[in-house]
Amino acid sequence: MSSASDDVSQSKETILSRHREAAAEVVPDHTQMYIGGEWQAAASGETFDTLDPTTGEVLASVARGGAEDVDRAVEAAWEAFDEEWADTTESERQAVLLEIADRVEEHAEELAKLETLDNGKTLMEARIDMGSTAEQFRYFAGAIEIDRGQTESGDGYHGQVIKEPYGVVGQIIPWNFPLTMASWKLAPALAAGNCSVIKPAEQTPLSLLRLMEIVGDVVPDGVVNVVTGYGEEAGEPISTHEDVRKIAFTGSTTVGKQIMRNAADTVTDVTLELGGKSPIVVHEDADPHEAVETIAFAIFANTGECCEAGSRLFVHEDVADAVLEGLQGAAEGMTVGDPLDEETDLGPKVSREQVERTMEYLESAKEGGAEFLAGGDAPDDEALEDGCFVAPTLVEGLDHDHEAVQEEIFGPVLEVFRWEDYDEMIELANDVDYGLAGGVITNDIEKADRTARDIEAGYIWVNTWHEMSPGLPYGGYKQSGIGREMSVDTLDHYTQTKSIKYGLD
Ligand code: NAI
Ligand code: MG
Repeated sequence: MSSASDDVSQSKETILSRHREAAAEVVPDHTQMYIGGEWQAAASGETFDTLDPTTGEVLASVARGGAEDVDRAVEAAWEAFDEEWADTTESERQAVLLEIADRVEEHAEELAKLETLDNGKTLMEARIDMGSTAEQFRYFAGAIEIDRGQTESGDGYHGQVIKEPYGVVGQIIPWNFPLTMASWKLAPALAAGNCSVIKPAEQTPLSLLRLMEIVGDVVPDGVVNVVTGYGEEAGEPISTHEDVRKIAFTGSTTVGKQIMRNAADTVTDVTLELGGKSPIVVHEDADPHEAVETIAFAIFANTGECCEAGSRLFVHEDVADAVLEGLQGAAEGMTVGDPLDEETDLGPKVSREQVERTMEYLESAKEGGAEFLAGGDAPDDEALEDGCFVAPTLVEGLDHDHEAVQEEIFGPVLEVFRWEDYDEMIELANDVDYGLAGGVITNDIEKADRTARDIEAGYIWVNTWHEMSPGLPYGGYKQSGIGREMSVDTLDHYTQTKSIKYGLD
C-alpha cells in the first residue's frame, strides 16, 4: 500500500506542523454556544475538547451545553419566531438563504480546511461538502416558492389549504458531514419559516460555529441557535423539550429509536435519517474496470463514514475474479495519509472510538472465518500512528448473517459475496434491517431497472454512487429512517397543513 511515509515530506513532524499551522489560521474565535444572536458559555461553565483525528491534538475547547442551555435556546428561538420570523415573507426568507449560500461559497476554502481538521476527511472531500452546503440553501430558497398550498371551491363554499411553520424545531447533526448535514436541516426549516435549535456532533462542532460567525449579521438573532455538547447532555433535552414542535435527527439507529420514543410523550413530529448497509449488485455484463471504479468510490469515499456507503458487494461469478482483483489493486493503491495533503485518497476516521468500533468488527470477522483480500488493520506507517487510521479493507467468506455483514461498520470495509442465481442474491441483498440505499452496475437497461426496483431502499444508483441532486428525495426504507430530505417533500416535514373552509350560503 502506498502510504504517507513513502514520501519524506510526510513525516509525523511535517504533518503535525502543517495541522498546527492550519488550525491557527481557521479555528474560529468563538467556541461558545450561539444563542439569541450572542456567544454564550454553558450555564455550567464547562467545556469539552474537540480533537484533530489526524494528529490526536486538541483543536479547541467548546462550551459543554446542558438542559439549562437548551431551555435558553428554545426560549430565544420562540421569541425570534413570535417577534419577527413568523411575519417574514417568503421572499425575505429567500434573500437570507441566498446570502448564506453566497457566503458559504466565499468562505468555502477556509470552511473546508476547518472541516478537514475537525473531521479528518480529505480536503478534496471537504470542498465538495461546501459546494453541496451552498446548494442546499439555494435549492430551498427556490423550493419554498413551489410549496404554496392550494385553493378549492365548490357549491356554496370556498376552501383554502395553507402551510404553516411549526415555530421552533430541534435538529441533531452527526459528525460525518458536519456542515452539509446542518444545511440539509437548516435550509428547509428556515425556508418554511421555522426557527431552529441545532446541535452539532461533539466530535465536529467547529464548522457550524464558524458558519454562525460568517452569517450572524444576515440571520436575525434567535432564528438559528447552536447548542454544543454531548448527546445525552445537550441532545436529549432538545428531543424531549415540550416547546420543540418537530425533531430532525441524523445518526445511529439506536439513538434514532430513542428519539422516536421520546417524541411519543409530546406527540412531536420526527424525521430520522439513520444507518445503512447498502448492497452493490454487479451483473455479468458489467465492465470490470468501470465496476471497480464505482465500487471503490461507493465504499471508500469519506473513509467509509457515509450512511449511504455501498458496503456489501454482490458480484456475478462471471466477472467476480476480474472485479475482485481490480478492487484489491485499488484498495492497495490508495494513498492513506494526511487529509490536508492534496495527494491523499483516504483520511483518518473521526475518532479513536470509531477506530475501535471498526476494529472490533474486523476482529469478529476474523473469528467468523473471513479472508482479508486487502487491509484488515491500521496502515503500517509510523507517520500515521497518532491518527485514527484504518486501511482500506476487503473481506470475503463471511456468512451473510454475521454481525459484520448485518451491522453498519461505518469505515472503509467492504464485504464481498459472489452470485449466480439472481433471486437468491436479491433475497440476501435485502436481508438486513436497513434500507437506505443500493446500487446496480450493468450496461443492460432491463437488468438495471429490475434490480433498482427489487432492492428495498430509498435511493438507488445505476453505474454511479453518492451522487445526490436537490430535487431527488433522500431517505430510508425499513430501519434506515422516516421522511425525506433534499426535496420539496422535505418542506412537508417542516410545515403543518391547515384547511380553512368559508361557507358562502
Ligand atoms: P450518535 O447517534 O450517538 O450521534 C449522532 C448525533 O446524535 C450526535 O450529535 C450526538 O451527540 C447525538 N446524540 C447522541 N445521543 C443522543 C441522545 N440520547 N439524544 C439526543 N441526541 C443524541 O452516533 P455515534 O455514536 O457518534 O456513532 C455510532 C454509529 O452511528 C456510527 O458508527 C454509525 O454506524 C452510525 N452513524 C450514522 C450516521 C448517519 O449518517 N446515518 C452518522 C453518525 C453515526
Ligand atoms: Mg474533531
